[in-house]
Amino acid sequence: MRIALLGGTGNLGEGLAVRLAKIGYKVIVGSRLEEKAKRIAAEYSKIAEAEIVGMTNKDAAKNCEVAFFTIPWKYAFEIAETLKDELRDKILVSPIVPMKKEGEIFQYVQLPEGSAAEKIASITEGKVVAAFHSIPAERFANLNEKIDWDLLVCGDQEAKKVLTEIAEKMGFRVLDVGPLNVARQLESLTPLILNIIIRNKNKVKKELTIKFI
Ligand SMILES: NC(=O)c1ccc[n+]([C@@H]2O[C@H](COP(=O)([O-])OP(=O)(O)OC[C@H]3O[C@@H](n4cnc5c(N)ncnc54)[C@H](OP(=O)(O)O)[C@@H]3O)[C@@H](O)[C@H]2O)c1
Repeated sequence: MRIALLGGTGNLGEGLAVRLAKIGYKVIVGSRLEEKAKRIAAEYSKIAEAEIVGMTNKDAAKNCEVAFFTIPWKYAFEIAETLKDELRDKILVSPIVPMKKEGEIFQYVQLPEGSAAEKIASITEGKVVAAFHSIPAERFANLNEKIDWDLLVCGDQEAKKVLTEIAEKMGFRVLDVGPLNVARQLESLTPLILNIIIRNKNKVKKELTIKFI
């Protein structure tokens, strides 16, 4: 299965690329710039000790079965618009968290569509699953870190089934939290977690992973 990471050259893209390649998936790192995609893909390949290729976001979208939107929310929708022909009917994963900082406080940005994941679905007509919103990118990219965390997912049934298989191979326990309109709840957890961490630095660790008993 070929998995594209659109904007996969950034923080969350690294962990996804190296972990997916390590367990045998064909990973395509997408970027606005082909040269950047190839350079970063070569760096990830060394870490994963597996081949990872780099392409423009457009070619990555064309050549995959599953695409992750590893792009900040302010730019993700514009990219979705430009790639909607390539992405139609594909499995799309949205880890996108629309949020902004107001002074010292992180706030969830409620979109008219309900959530970023629903907006991606309305633009692309793809099968969208929302997941990975509260994964700490730096720890995730560290292959010494064992992933026995819970992954909360919601969305299209077929997309959930495909993502569940992929995520379980990575080590996650996948917890289904419902249809795509639950994505607003998953997305809004991240600014809440950041506010908890920032306001309680002396009490809580910097990063949080979710694990239900
Ligand atoms: N970081 C985390 O811990 C984390 C955790 C969970 C979920 N998320 C979500 O995952 C997504 C990616 O987060 P991230 O931290 O990995 O993002 P990031 O590192 O800030 O950016 C990822 C990539 O987005 C592309 N990009 C930047 N500006 C752009 C623009 N103006 N137009 C189009 N593409 C642009 C860049 O790729 P190119 O320059 O190569 O095109 C960049 O490498 C976000 O939606 C975020 O909410 C992040």
